[in-house]
This record gives sequence, structure tokens and C-alpha cells, in this order.
Amino acid sequence: MKPLRVALLGCGTVGSEVVRLLHEQAADLTARIGAPLELAGVAVRRIDKARAHVTPDLLTTDAMSLVTREDVDIVVEVIGGIEPARSLLLAAMKSGKSVVTANKALLAEDGETIFGAAREYGADLYYEAAVAGAIPLLRPLRESLVGDHVKRVIGIVNGTTNYILDRMDAHGASFVDALEEAQSLGYAEADPTADVEGFDAAAKAAILAQLAFHTPVSAADVHREGITEVTSADVAGAKAMNSVVKLLAICERVPDADGSGNGRGVSVRVYPAMIPRSHPLASVREAYNAVFVEAESAGSLMFYGAGAGGAPTASAVLGDLVAVARNRVGGTRGPVEVTYAELPVLPMGETVTRYYIQLDVADRSGVLAQVAELFARHDVSIQAVQQDGRGEDAQLVIVTHRAPDAALAATVEELRRLDIVREVASVMRVEADDA
Ligand code: NDP
Ligand code: HSE
Repeated sequence: MKPLRVALLGCGTVGSEVVRLLHEQAADLTARIGAPLELAGVAVRRIDKARAHVTPDLLTTDAMSLVTREDVDIVVEVIGGIEPARSLLLAAMKSGKSVVTANKALLAEDGETIFGAAREYGADLYYEAAVAGAIPLLRPLRESLVGDHVKRVIGIVNGTTNYILDRMDAHGASFVDALEEAQSLGYAEADPTADVEGFDAAAKAAILAQLAFHTPVSAADVHREGITEVTSADVAGAKAMNSVVKLLAICERVPDADGSGNGRGVSVRVYPAMIPRSHPLASVREAYNAVFVEAESAGSLMFYGAGAGGAPTASAVLGDLVAVARNRVGGTRGPVEVTYAELPVLPMGETVTRYYIQLDVADRSGVLAQVAELFARHDVSIQAVQQDGRGEDAQLVIVTHRAPDAALAATVEELRRLDIVREVASVMRVEADDA
């Protein structure tokens, strides 16, 4: 059996675990593939750093020479970021290698180029680890559900932010302390801004929407809000409502008026939202991820598991590695992405959502009527109001029915300008609660 030679790009949190699994499971992997996997080289930035199971002769800082070497069959990219990862993957596919990557940032920013190269050069391109860590989610969308009509994908797809929100909710931890813990556990991106500002979740949402709806979606198309603006008032407000705050990624097919065809567009968005504690997503703790897929014939499916961390992510990378290796042994290749549907990505303002709004107002007659009139003027229907008198002031908590996001945002904007409103203390979308 001729060995299949693997070039590994990056040997950090994920790459080092890939090396460990290749080493520890070598015999089983050989049996499962029908040929042994052999490490041909490992590209890193710091050549002098010792790496377990990697002999110094395998290390190089010249990643481009490694990916184009004739004795390399498969390239595994776990460097991250746009460049040099993009040039390396393109060169690898051009020179006939099969490719495995965990790089959601690149696939979401310039998927057109990467998927286009896979088609042009007939290369295998697998990327299960790019979304939701260890959870098998992309293969079900690419293969198992490809015959169905997916209507909605909603979930928690960023481990770092879920870890932070969970620590804030359950342990009263500070944002900064919780982020530091997430970093030390290997969950965060090299620049954690990608996590806390929602860029990482937005990249994953773009990949999910593209696969679910067979339509081109890039990171720039995704409405994105991170968790840095989530205040202790938001977390306390959610608690009082028997809800929790979660950073959600939501990809929806927006139906035509008559409900036929592929729909009039898609809505793809990432933001922190309140969800009832009774909802299954509310019980997703620490760095776990969970994603619901709603498809016309399959109904509702839930995917749950470890969303970040070296070993869980390496499991997904190894799964892809075995798949591309089997394809090479069998002289075949995996599925090719097609984005034939060309559905428009609808603006956030047209998306129908619900809001939770907490106001500090003057406690005098007519205030509630004035506030209610403002909501009515924007055609936003109120589902519930709760008033709590506090001396000269009162706290008003308002939860709306579903309305276009633009109308809700305009309502809040005008509330801020009312002189009877001392402060708009908390504004949060409400999801997964179909009132
Ligand atoms: P790390 O920062 O831990 O590791 C990055 C690795 O890439 C390091 O070994 C680094 O070398 C190497 N590297 C950086 N720049 C270069 C370069 N120019 N040439 C060669 N090597 C380079 O990142 P992670 O392992 O956490 O993440 C890797 C990828 O996996 C990213 O795309 C990330 O988004 C994705 N991912 C990560 C998950 C996680 O939980 N960590 C989960 C899912 C996906 P050196 O060691 O010398 O610094
Ligand atoms: N930083 C990412 C997260 C890694 O926290 O989810 C997994 O993609």
C-alpha cells in the first residue's frame, strides 16, 4: 500500500491535535482508508518551537514549497486567516492535491475563489471543522439533506461567546475574565475580536446559508452584532423574563407571498438575543454549540456537541482527512458545491423579529399612553408591558410582537428622544419564542 502523504499547514491548538491523532490512531486510520497516512511536512511560523510527534526535519517555514511538493497528496490547512492561507490552498489545488481546511474566515470572505478553484482543478475540498467544531453539520447539509428543501438554520455556532455569556449568566463572571478563560482553553480565535464582535459566527452563518439554500452568501452579506454591547442590565432583564442571552446565527429562507418556489430571498444574521430558558438552545452551556435545521420533508433536526477546542476540532479535521484519502484510494472525489439558486440576501430592516425593551421613565399619568402611541405609530404591536414604580421614576418592560426590524429600530430611536424617557436601559431581540 503506497502511503498517502499529508502536508500540515499550522501546528497550533488544532494542528497539534491533528498530529497527535495521526500518530496515536495510525494503524486504525490505515485500515479504514486502505493506505497509511504519512506526515510529509509541517509548516509553522516559529521553527524552533518543539512540537510533540513532529521531528525537526519535518518542520518548515516555507509553506508554499511544501504544498506544491510532488510527494504530497493531501494538504490540511489549520493556519487560519485570509493570507497566506488562500494562496496556499489555491496552489495546492492547482497542483492536484486534495484539501482539508478549518478556515471559516477564508471560506466566508472569498469562498467564490476557493470553491471555484476546487471545481476548476477537480480537487477535493472538505471543511467540516470550519463550522461548529466537532459537530458533523456540514456533511449532513452537503450530502444527507441535499435532496430536501431547507427552510431555516438557527443555532449557537461560536464557542467562545457562548462560554462568556454562560459564565456571566450562571456565575456572574465579568466579560474580561470569561474571555481570558475561553482563550486559555483554546476556544478563541488568534484575535478574539473575531469571536466577541460576531465575525466568526457571521462567517459560519454565511457558510451554512450557502449550503442550506444553494445560493452565494459571503461574510459581508451577513447582518452582524457581537456580544460586546451586552450589558449586565440585558443579562438581568433576560433572567427576570426566565430567559437567557445567547449569540445566535440565523439563516432563513423568506417565502414568496404565495409560499411557492425557492422564496423571495434569504435572511442571514448574527446577534445576541433572548431565548426562553425552556428552549433547548438555552441549555447549551460553556463552549458547546447546537444548531437546528428545519427542512420541508425531514422536519426539525438538532445537532449538538463541542463547538471549539483542539481535540474536538481535530476530530472533524481527521474525518475530512479520511474522506479525501478514501476518495484518492478509490479514484473518486467528493461533492461539489453549486450555488444555482442566486437568491438575494434581504436587508436586516425587512427581517421580522421581536424586541424586548427596558425603559426608565417619569412616573406620571399619561406616560404609558404616550409610549404606547409611539409603538402604534410605527405599526409595532405590543405583546406585554410590565411597570414597576420606583419613586419619581418607573421601569417599563415592553415585549413586542413580530414586526419588521426597521420599524422596531425606528421605535427605539424615537423612544430615546422622548423627554419622559430617562434611559433606554436594554434593547434585545427575542427569538425562539413564537408569541
Ligand atoms: P493557532 O493560532 O493556535 O495556530 C495557528 C498555527 O498556524 C500555528 O502553528 C502557527 O505557527 C501557524 N502559522 C501562522 N501563520 C503561519 C504562516 N504564515 N505560515 C505557516 N504557519 C503559520 O490557531 P488554531 O489552531 O486555534 O486555529 C487554526 C484554524 O482552525 C483557524 O482557521 C481557526 O479558525 C480554525 N478553528 C479553530 C478552532 C479552535 O477551537 N481553536 C475550532 C474550529 C476551527 P506557530 O505555531 O509557529 O505560531
Ligand atoms: N473561535 C471559535 C469559537 C473556534 O469560539 O467557536 C471554533 O470555530
